[in-house]
Amino acid sequence: MKVLVTGGAGYIGSHMVRTLIDRGHGVVVVDDLSSGHRDAVAAEAAFVEADVADGVRMLALLREHGVEAVLHFAGKIRVDESVVDPATYWRGNVTASLALLGAVLEAKVPSFVFSSTAAVYGDPETVPIPEDHPTRPVNPYGDSKLTVERILSSYGVAHGLRWAALRYFNAAGANAGAGLGERHDPESHLIPIVLDVALGRREKVSIYGTDWPTPDGTCVRDYIHVCDLADAHLAALEHLTKGGESGAFNLGTGRGASVREVVEVVREVTGKAVLAVSAPRRAGDPPELVAGVERAARILGWRAKQSDLRTIVADAWLARARLPG
Ligand SMILES: NC(=O)c1ccc[n+]([C@@H]2O[C@H](COP(=O)([O-])OP(=O)(O)OC[C@H]3O[C@@H](n4cnc5c(N)ncnc54)[C@H](O)[C@@H]3O)[C@@H](O)[C@H]2O)c1
Repeated sequence: MKVLVTGGAGYIGSHMVRTLIDRGHGVVVVDDLSSGHRDAVAAEAAFVEADVADGVRMLALLREHGVEAVLHFAGKIRVDESVVDPATYWRGNVTASLALLGAVLEAKVPSFVFSSTAAVYGDPETVPIPEDHPTRPVNPYGDSKLTVERILSSYGVAHGLRWAALRYFNAAGANAGAGLGERHDPESHLIPIVLDVALGRREKVSIYGTDWPTPDGTCVRDYIHVCDLADAHLAALEHLTKGGESGAFNLGTGRGASVREVVEVVREVTGKAVLAVSAPRRAGDPPELVAGVERAARILGWRAKQSDLRTIVADAWLARARLPG
């Protein structure tokens, strides 16, 4: 199948491109390199440096390459930034997606998979969180992703677009063997930050809140290996291509790990000292985010296979140690 991957030079997108190529698919990557890395894109993929908000260019590309499905990873990803600069998130996530979707409809591409997020739920009432849990995002990042989900739903009804919104919990890990890893700048994700402390690139990791109502008082998150995420996208593509129902699916493991557990696993896996210090709670951090995973298992036939915390940390460590400091 010929697949367009937007954001294919980014962390998750670059892993997706590798997986698609390994499974024999043709891949075109569109990325404006605003946060991605050209050298993360597999050599076998066609690469186009462009903004997905350029609908005219997207339409030309979809036609030129005979694209049969779009995987839309490109977007702005930082919760804290979205709070102080919401316009960038509405433009980068909603306006850009609208332009891309306009081209998708015009080129009659039948299937569209969107990178959504657990942030659409806001502060959950129940954990694990099922997909039919109320969606009440507490920041413009989550709000912008939920808005795109609503656009997709309406385009499904009006135009017959088949779509899946994959709500990732905490993407982590790496395909180090393929030379890939997590390379956000600035890095805001816990595991690469803790690994940087182990590597001596940072002095310490701050634990925001040690008095949350969780077993060890620190926040609990559901870490999902980036290669499991890539497999889930393949399952979603197959499902949509066969005419399966559109909708939103959580991608997680159904198990949570606390910040302290992550720090401890990093110490064990790396054999290095990691200085962790307590810091005040951050506003808007839910204490526990864990995915309900039954819908993805039942409808997509997908479950995480390589997402135990040790495997995630070991793979991320291999990749991180190779990156320039
Ligand atoms: N990393 C996570 O834990 C996580 C969790 C939930 C959801 N997501 C979503 O997954 C997607 C990928 O996340 P990531 O961690 O790989 O981020 P990333 O920043 O590494 O990748 C995003 C890529 O999109 C590109 N891009 C951004 N805006 C663009 C535009 N307008 N046109 C073309 N290219 C553009 C960037 O250059 C980058 O290569 C995002 O949509 C993000 O919101 C990520």
